[in-house]
Amino acid sequence: MNVDLVVVGAGLCGLTVAERCANRLGMRVLVVEARRHIGGNAYSELEPETGIEVHRYGAHLFHTSNESVWAYANRFTRFTDYVHRVYIRRGDEIFPLPINLATINQFTRSAMSPSEAAAWVRDRAAQYRDGDVGNLERKAISLIGRDLYEAFVRGYTAKQWEADPMDLPAAVITRLPVRYTYDNRYFSDTHEGLPVDGYTRWFERMIDSDRVEILLGNDFLDRQSAVNKHNTVGRVEVVYTGPLDRYFDRAVGGLTWRTLDFAWEIVPTGDYQGTAVINYADRSVPFLRTIEFRHFHPERDYPRDRSVIAREYSRLARPEDEPYYPVNSTMDRRILRRYRDLARQETGVHFGGRLGTYRYLDMHMAIASALRVVDRLAARRTV
Ligand code: FDA
Repeated sequence: MNVDLVVVGAGLCGLTVAERCANRLGMRVLVVEARRHIGGNAYSELEPETGIEVHRYGAHLFHTSNESVWAYANRFTRFTDYVHRVYIRRGDEIFPLPINLATINQFTRSAMSPSEAAAWVRDRAAQYRDGDVGNLERKAISLIGRDLYEAFVRGYTAKQWEADPMDLPAAVITRLPVRYTYDNRYFSDTHEGLPVDGYTRWFERMIDSDRVEILLGNDFLDRQSAVNKHNTVGRVEVVYTGPLDRYFDRAVGGLTWRTLDFAWEIVPTGDYQGTAVINYADRSVPFLRTIEFRHFHPERDYPRDRSVIAREYSRLARPEDEPYYPVNSTMDRRILRRYRDLARQETGVHFGGRLGTYRYLDMHMAIASALRVVDRLAARRTV
């Protein structure tokens, strides 16, 4: 194999490693990817009938406060000035999220000031302040009170985890942000936007180099693949961004993930819901949210009589499903520790990305962690 590095996985982590190793360290890099496209879960494409850009693995909004990550991403793409906002439907009403002064005043049919609303929430949250907050429901009530919890958190969380919040660990939520202003920007990062000509063009520019080769449809853990673990590890340095447990053939057990199913529909209207994302609070509605993709790019000339929507359903992943969110149960954490020990013993293999570390990473975090992997590789080369 005439390369200096094999990168497994063409997601944002793998592509960043490949780009930096090729252009900063002058390495010849081969990227192998099991799917038929690059970009990992941030992949997007134009829906063929409407030309509307869709995110095939769930809505992806780029946001970061990390200046070096922002500068790095801007080498390959410009970003639109899209600002993400999310709404939630409860019964026949739509409220803004995250819970803010508009949400509270609409919910209570009042016109409270910021300090009045804060006192209102404090009063209701006091119920569990010093009591038992051993499960998600009690923890949530201790943070925002029962009224807001039952209206906006309980049903959605139950669908998200397929479990009653009373049976979920409190650790699932660390905080529930409540804003006592009318600001309903979903993210509070310094930079936010969508790549002007789509995620896939961004990623293609990253690997536009003679020193980077891409091999699609190549599962590194399948012995039948041209480039696989058995004919690579030990012969050339590897950065592996696939699932950690699969690398070790699930020798000490499977790490659990949640997955999403998407029900896609082309609807005969130029605007289905007036915004990109509406969550559904009621447990009686089986899906979590509806994404209408045209709203991510209001600057584009999309058809006026059709729109693309996807309804998102959450469930526990089986081994053959796409892993989306780590469950991170006590058992998972125990298994993870053993895989981390095994990973440390694997010479010449660096584990990275959300699957290789079993951590939820936003895109900017995936880039930042890839840049750290490259720094480590650079340090080894100069020793
Ligand atoms: P990623 O999963 O993207 O890439 C890994 C690649 O490795 C995949 O292409 C996979 O096919 C490949 N692979 C795995 N095993 C292999 C093997 N054995 N052989 C070869 N290839 C293999 N972030 C954000 O900033 N804003 C957002 O709005 C969202 N939204 C969002 C929605 C949903 C539903 C999810 C699940 C996640 C997000 N994210 C997000 C997070 C974002 O998806 C994440 O940061 C990146 O996908 C991380 O990139 P990685 O390269 O780590 O993994």
